[in-house]
Amino acid sequence: TITRREDYAPPAWRVPDISLAFALDEARTRVSAVLRVERAGSGPLVLDGDDLDLKSVSVDGRVLGEGDYTLANGNLTIPLTGDTATVETVVEIAPAANSKLMGLYASGGNLCTQCEAEGFRRVTFFPDRPDVLSRYSVELNADKARYPVLLSNGNPVAAGDLPDGRHFARWDDPFPKPCYLFAVVAGDLRALEDSFETMSGRHVKLAIWVRAADVEKCRHAMQALKDSMRWDEVHYGREYDLDVFNIVAVDDFNFGAMENKGLNIFNSKYILADAETATDADFDAVAAVVAHEYFHNWTGNRITCRDWFQLSLKEGLTVYRDQCFSADMGSPAVKRIEDVRALRAAQFQEDAGPLAHPVRPESYIEISNFYTATVYNKGAEVIRMAATLLGPENYRKGTDLYFERHDGEAATVEDWVKALEDGGGADFGQFRLWYSQAGTPTVTADLAYDPAAKSATLTLAQAVPDTPGQSQKAPMHIPLKIALFGRESGSLLGPEQLFQLRGASATMTFENVGEPPVLSINRSFSAPVNVETKRSAADFAFLSAHDDDPFARYEAMQQLMMDRLVDAVRSGGTDAAPLVEAVGRTLRNQALDHAFIGESILLPTETMIAERLVANVDPDAVHTAREGVRRALLEGVGRDTWSALYTSLSDGAYDLSPGGKGGRRLKNVALGYLFSRPDEAAVAAAEAQYTAATNMTDRIAALGLLVDTDTAARERVLQDFYDRFKGDALVLDKWFTAQALGTSEGTFEHVVALAGHRDFTIRNPNRFRSLVGALAMNQFVFHRKDGAGYRFVADSLLEVDAINPQTAARFIAPFGRWRRMEDARAGMMRAELERIVGTPGVSRDTFEMASKSLV
Ligand code: ARG
Ligand code: ZN
Repeated sequence: TITRREDYAPPAWRVPDISLAFALDEARTRVSAVLRVERAGSGPLVLDGDDLDLKSVSVDGRVLGEGDYTLANGNLTIPLTGDTATVETVVEIAPAANSKLMGLYASGGNLCTQCEAEGFRRVTFFPDRPDVLSRYSVELNADKARYPVLLSNGNPVAAGDLPDGRHFARWDDPFPKPCYLFAVVAGDLRALEDSFETMSGRHVKLAIWVRAADVEKCRHAMQALKDSMRWDEVHYGREYDLDVFNIVAVDDFNFGAMENKGLNIFNSKYILADAETATDADFDAVAAVVAHEYFHNWTGNRITCRDWFQLSLKEGLTVYRDQCFSADMGSPAVKRIEDVRALRAAQFQEDAGPLAHPVRPESYIEISNFYTATVYNKGAEVIRMAATLLGPENYRKGTDLYFERHDGEAATVEDWVKALEDGGGADFGQFRLWYSQAGTPTVTADLAYDPAAKSATLTLAQAVPDTPGQSQKAPMHIPLKIALFGRESGSLLGPEQLFQLRGASATMTFENVGEPPVLSINRSFSAPVNVETKRSAADFAFLSAHDDDPFARYEAMQQLMMDRLVDAVRSGGTDAAPLVEAVGRTLRNQALDHAFIGESILLPTETMIAERLVANVDPDAVHTAREGVRRALLEGVGRDTWSALYTSLSDGAYDLSPGGKGGRRLKNVALGYLFSRPDEAAVAAAEAQYTAATNMTDRIAALGLLVDTDTAARERVLQDFYDRFKGDALVLDKWFTAQALGTSEGTFEHVVALAGHRDFTIRNPNRFRSLVGALAMNQFVFHRKDGAGYRFVADSLLEVDAINPQTAARFIAPFGRWRRMEDARAGMMRAELERIVGTPGVSRDTFEMASKSLV
């Protein structure tokens, strides 16, 4: 069945209070729920339920007989006649048998919950929708030896011992919340503890709960938590509101983390980090996700979503907030480059394919499928544009008004936009289209120069492509940061301007342009659009050397590379001279920081090249072309230059400052270029780096390069890595991934063999993704000509689908790219999608993704 945005109706019953009692046990947990319900509309009380074993129902103390209620499709319907009632249900659930990892489940001997979006119905009968807000009081009881720690939302109010070796804890959450924010955890956990004093002087106890052996690996997450708490006070005026803030890390988790009120639950990948086991990117991801979940306390929890079509209200806004936080804590330029790269890799691809949908979707079959790059990352870009249009002061006035107006409510995207308009003083009438129209707009820009008049005219036009279910789109409100540079002087001709493109086309005139200008447009990536210009390789080379906006400078280099790569695929052209020259100049530029250089000289991925080619893609040709350009850069810039750069960066001490990270980044990019044609010296250098590494960044970088060679060093480092880290699941994931990302002969067969390795399991989502997910991302191998890559991934995802639909459904997207591929591959990809759709018992999640991908 399809749920549609236009069909929203307010709930017929409210549940102002709920008390829950859990008798916890891995095999069989008993849940008693007492709901105080109040009529808000007409009709019976309908409570959602899924996989619940109902033991009893009573209303106002009277036990109901079987004829007094109905149980259909899991849901419980009670025909209440009055306007208020107290409804009590008792159910039993089986956490150890819960392989979907939604509701209450077991992980590593502990018990935990995941309720967003619709998991609470797997815990107890309840109106499982985000616009029903309740005050929760929760009592947990469990075996004390097995589950010494008992946590839930809100503040702890009581705890004590019970007979038979059991104990209990009671938690009260004073803030009304939707049930998707409910959480419990029971386990043998230890905490890294700390405290935080809020801006008004309240003291908050902070704790991150993990296995005893992992406590020391929580220090980075704890620092990020305290930094986030301060940052939200300074930048949004938002203060934390409970006496405690708990985080729990678990190994089995369907995605990154969850913002349950006062009790965030994380995939351990986004908490545990130390130099030995986590890369620089892992450290950054830990801080970003900790911040993200913390920021949800205001953008998501205090103000939640009215219905799931409003998901970007909390996710887009919270991603924007975590991006700004990370930028402030590190290098803003590098962060912006990383965010745009991720947006293009995931969201632009989604927007250009069969699964394209607006930031505020119109319909869904399974809401779990809409936790997408569009809702999250494009949603964040939309808010960034609004902030750009308003300017910092008015944006802050807008967000202040949003919090003031809607605190304690389940709000809509429209409420958010209205608050920005009213508080910030703007008209976002046309801007709202960013929420309703899918597809990445294309902006074409043409700059003409009149030397006699000393003027330049920029002609702009926009087009929004058709997407499934949407055509004939209206022009969008697009903020474009623009500047001109003098080709002779190399300097800026006047200040950067913010041009608001609103019509299908527009022109912009620049006066007093005394020399031929070069256009710099969409600086800092001010709008999530594709820009097409007639700029030449010389123009891009010029901008890569002179643009003062770091993003634009990076972008110029990327364009130069992309044009070269596309040319190489299409015509085998090999004139890499302008690119070699630009890369060489960037490497020599002492004014640039290492991280920036490392980012900007990295070639676009094979997937990005395929997206750019649009149709009839042959992944083998893409691979060959990219390898050719890589080698041209190795040889053009010179092996000696790359080696010297590598060596000069090799003895930096390990620290996590932006400078330290940047040095490692550039060093490993340099080593990567040396490996485009690895000679003995390069292999020896990589093995030495692997062996001497004091940190995971250097170790895994060397391993990743050696894995793709046919050398004895390959076997040595793979064995060593396994022996060293076999007891650490998160690091072993890296071992699987490194082997699945290779492109050398035999990679595919090797991955198939690894799927039979004793450490491989489809039950742990991280492990499954580390191997099968990595292969599906490996364009060259996934798209093998014989179709074996497609079959392997489809078989694996169907196997997971039977136990964990949410994790399986994410693997459909790579098949959805079939339209871009040459005919033979497109046919095989479609055939796999058809096989998936036709599989008896396939989940709703996977069915929705696969059937939509066929269109
Ligand atoms: N709200 C969580 C976060 O972004 C993610 C929940 C994902 N849920 C899902 N069903 N995919 O922080
Ligand atoms: Zn989120």
